[in-house]
Amino acid sequence: MKYYKKILGDRIYLSPINTDEVDSYLKWMNDESVAVPFGQYHRIVSSKNDMKWLYEPNSDMHRYAIVLIKDDILIGNISLHNIDHLNRNAFIGIFIGEKEQRGKGYGAEAIRLILNYGFKTMNLHNIMLTVHADNYEGISCYKKVGFREVGRLHEWIFKDGKYVDKIYMEMMKRDFGV
Ligand SMILES: CC(C)(COP(=O)(O)OP(=O)(O)OC[C@H]1O[C@@H](n2cnc3c(N)ncnc32)[C@H](O)[C@@H]1OP(=O)(O)O)[C@@H](O)C(=O)NCCC(=O)NCCS
Repeated sequence: MKYYKKILGDRIYLSPINTDEVDSYLKWMNDESVAVPFGQYHRIVSSKNDMKWLYEPNSDMHRYAIVLIKDDILIGNISLHNIDHLNRNAFIGIFIGEKEQRGKGYGAEAIRLILNYGFKTMNLHNIMLTVHADNYEGISCYKKVGFREVGRLHEWIFKDGKYVDKIYMEMMKRDFGV
């Protein structure tokens, strides 16, 4: 068994990372549709030495593989990062690596699972995320889960020859209903 059903949903589960899957992560870090929103596209990522975040995550980070229940296939990654236990807040980072697995609700399900875990197990109070203003699929997904925009940095991200805004969105524990 390569994965562990640590946080179980209806169609997916979140498992501690299996670093044997490094080839999948290397492929995704060189796929523009993942690497640009993930902030890795301007870097050379060619071996596990370039994947410190995978092998040696910071102590203020919890990183999980997103795995399909029906066939135990890895489809992406979700993390709580910059976890601040004093002020009880954190950020979410997520990607669904395979394009054909996007738009099927797996991202929303993974986010609901990590929010539930963050609020009810880790006793967090406010969970935020950031998204590029031209990431319409991401913004739709986050709004569907209940995130709301709380601010934006104008022309903060340089991509494909232009600047785009960086949006901050948040979910308070009380708004998640737990
Ligand atoms: C962002 C991401 C994690 C969302 O996961 P997902 O599984 O695709 O999301 P969901 O299927 O739950 O929701 C996506 C929603 O966007 C909608 N959508 C798709 N394309 C859209 C577009 N161009 N404009 C507006 N909405 C769009 C879908 O219809 C869906 O909404 P619905 O369920 O109400 O129909 C995933 O698309 C992804 O990994 N993208 C590449 C990497 C990335 O952007 N990571 C996030 C960085 S902040």
